[in-house]
Amino acid sequence: MSKKNLFYTLVAILLIGAYALSACAPAAAPAVEEPAAPAAEEPAAEEPMAEEKLGVGIVLPTKDEPRWIQDETRFRDALDAAGYDVEILFSQGDSSLEKSNVEALIAKGVQVIIICPHDSAAAAAAAESARAAGVKVVSYDRLITDTDAVDYYVTFDSIAVGAAQAQYLVDKATGTGNPLYLYAGAATDNNAFLFFEGAWNVLQPKIADGTFVIKNSSEAIALQDNPTLTRDDLGKIIGQVTTDWLFDVAKTKAESHLTVATAADKGDVFILAPNDGTSRAIADAFAADTDVTSYVISGQDAEQASVQYIIDGKQSMTVLKDVRTLVADAISAAIAYLEGGEPPVTNTYNNGVIDVPAKPSAVVSVDKDNVVEAIFDSGYWDPADFTGLE
Ligand code: BGC
Repeated sequence: MSKKNLFYTLVAILLIGAYALSACAPAAAPAVEEPAAPAAEEPAAEEPMAEEKLGVGIVLPTKDEPRWIQDETRFRDALDAAGYDVEILFSQGDSSLEKSNVEALIAKGVQVIIICPHDSAAAAAAAESARAAGVKVVSYDRLITDTDAVDYYVTFDSIAVGAAQAQYLVDKATGTGNPLYLYAGAATDNNAFLFFEGAWNVLQPKIADGTFVIKNSSEAIALQDNPTLTRDDLGKIIGQVTTDWLFDVAKTKAESHLTVATAADKGDVFILAPNDGTSRAIADAFAADTDVTSYVISGQDAEQASVQYIIDGKQSMTVLKDVRTLVADAISAAIAYLEGGEPPVTNTYNNGVIDVPAKPSAVVSVDKDNVVEAIFDSGYWDPADFTGLE
């Protein structure tokens, strides 16, 4: 079925759902049924208007990071094109607001909730409220952990994200003794573990053979002979080099690492930065240090500001996770559930309680050499919004 047809199917199903109200018949109903005309004396307010009835609700973690604004925009673009109304709520980094957002959507009668959790474990309570109300839960980008109340996980291959970041550093390094600075995402985000695990798998042999020397993490140094890390090991390193996914935390942490490092720990440095926001913050700190002669730094998300940093030579690479794909997968999953079916499964992710069915999408490593093809030719961003492009 074409995307357009999928959307029309969604619209039809939602209209059926809206008119059928609490009639729980699966969406296989062959035609839209007009609701019975209310008796004259019946107050109209008792019967919600069709457009008040939502089939799908979306809860995103914060408006304060461009990554999630991207997702909001791309969800709206995809759903507006179908003339379909959707409610998107933000949790502003607060698990209790996230839970009340989920409860508000349940009260509005949604049948599917797409949640990107702020805190993977804390979101279990929100997912359980949805499950108790018979609402399907799609975990979006970040896995909700510690509960069986997750029906599906749409995601990118997060191990591959970390591996791509690390591979870039490895490919740019020559000789031995290259200073390596490690940073990670928030310990409350399951993805931070996957990204770091993927990076470690690639970096560790290059630490073991002397190509890199870790400069900013005693925990990572203590574990540097281990080709694979346990969840506890990862937790120790992440606990030390976390950015909490925050620009200011990343900048302050990088500055304090540079303050304690000697000139010999600097020179031509290599930096594992977990995403674009933190990469720009860390890059700014390293660029301001006169003992740093050059730096290679990773990122992820292909945020507009980081694509500009790459064009300007201030950030080395990003990992493009095409949010259009994730949005399309999430909408397809919602449609499948609304139709009484199941979305496609290619993998499972263990969330501590169950193996959650999932369909991870591929990622693309982007630097100055392929930015035009990967970002502009693909229509991901409009080149008119950037400067310095030939
Ligand atoms: C997402 C990244 C994002 C990070 C910070 C992760 O879970 O996968 O794309 O940069 O959270 O919001």
